[in-house]
Amino acid sequence: RGAPPTAVVIFGASGDLTARKLIPAVYNLAADNLLPPDFHLIGYGRKEISHEAFRELAADAIKEFSRRELSNDVWDRIAARTTYVAGGYDDPAAFDRLAEHLAEIEKKVGRDVQPLFYISTPPSVFGPILTNLGSSGLAKKHIDHPHHAKVIIEKPFGRDLESALKLNQTVRNVLEEHQVYRIDHYLGKETVQDLLVQRFANSIFEPLWNRNFIDNVQITVAEEVGVGTRGGYYEQSGALRDMIQNHTMQLVALTAMEPPVSLDAEAIRDEKVKLLRAIQPLDLGANGDVSRAQYAAGMIGGKPEPGYLDEEGIAPESATETYAAIRLSINNWRWQGVPFVIRSGKRMARRVTEIAVQFKRPPGTLFAKGGFDLAANTLSFQIQPDEGLSLILNGKVPGLETRMQPVKMNFRYSTTYGSNTPEAYERLVLDAMIGDGTLFIRGDEAETSWKLYTPVLEAWAAAGREGMDSYPVGSWGPASADALLAAHNNVWRKP
Ligand code: BG6
Repeated sequence: RGAPPTAVVIFGASGDLTARKLIPAVYNLAADNLLPPDFHLIGYGRKEISHEAFRELAADAIKEFSRRELSNDVWDRIAARTTYVAGGYDDPAAFDRLAEHLAEIEKKVGRDVQPLFYISTPPSVFGPILTNLGSSGLAKKHIDHPHHAKVIIEKPFGRDLESALKLNQTVRNVLEEHQVYRIDHYLGKETVQDLLVQRFANSIFEPLWNRNFIDNVQITVAEEVGVGTRGGYYEQSGALRDMIQNHTMQLVALTAMEPPVSLDAEAIRDEKVKLLRAIQPLDLGANGDVSRAQYAAGMIGGKPEPGYLDEEGIAPESATETYAAIRLSINNWRWQGVPFVIRSGKRMARRVTEIAVQFKRPPGTLFAKGGFDLAANTLSFQIQPDEGLSLILNGKVPGLETRMQPVKMNFRYSTTYGSNTPEAYERLVLDAMIGDGTLFIRGDEAETSWKLYTPVLEAWAAAGREGMDSYPVGSWGPASADALLAAHNNVWRKP
């Protein structure tokens, strides 16, 4: 899987994501010899800084955030081809300068270089950047060649259906869909890709993967961290926009979609969109399908911790949810009647992302006499941390009487493969360089997901704080989320 000569241009070069994820990703690709020989890195930002100053920023980012130590050998190779262009995002002349800079690089290299633009700025300038890529001609660079200009767009892709439609329109005014790589970094995680392999490279799951055998599916994306210093961003976002509409829905789509006809990007994305379309509109009434909450002050490890409303940059009467839980009904042949419950929150009991598929309980007749409460067989994909897969079975406790106990079969990445696996962004940047869109979001996919959640966002905005539940920091979430499963005689797992 070799990438052609490429110049990666990062818009938002001094941003947080650039330092935390993008520069370290480039560095680790270089260390793994996965970058093309004529690779160039160009930072673009409003700050007037020199090439050298940008290189220093990049080296510092690697030291602080890379999964590998900075080795001068590797870094010197990248640094020699790392440059910086200062300019505004709404300044056409600056984009012309960027175009000249790219042309000079091509002249030096003596061959065509594929431009890969990474838009990693606040969403308010996505529009101007796209427009200027169009007017400067950069969007069409090498358009008749497979190594044409490509654009990666960071999240958030819109903040509701209307803004997502508008952003897609701006994108389409300038680019063809196959040039566009909308990021959802969860798709770059090893375990998320493994989900498809587990489902479709094994024959034991597929016959059971439907309403006849599965009772419910619980998807948890829990974080221990709070909003930290990101209060300004988070106040405009909240758990539904930040985690549910994108990351969590990707997990739903990959868990529930039909087998694709091939591993082709379009084939997989067609199935994901089909699945998203089969999800019924959510019931927003009392005892409906949604729950939202904010974390409240509490104790963790004997230490008092503040609630959301006391965090820096948060309005005292904020109506932004830090937790959301949703019950989805998928109205298709495979899933009708099987609740998919999903939840995501900050400041929860522990950091864990898992997909738990609970099978129906066996008829109790045989062992019921002993008063045994059989556990539901549960297959859980541990997406992070401690990546792996486990299956809960009921087993007999050794002894002269028949006593049962749930037992767990475990597969752990760390035991089987060791640690130090590539980070999501490494895979995604490499895929975009190669021109493989499988692990990116297609325009209609983003729109379909927003269509489902926009009525929820509107209802919550109209209600303000009314109906906002709370949960203590370090807990598994609010009581109102329990109702989503209680209606199905079930409870949330405590992963
Ligand atoms: C980001 C959200 O998309 O994902 C953050 O904006 C969140 O709020 C992060 O913390 C979680 O990503 P990961 O890879 O740490 O699970």
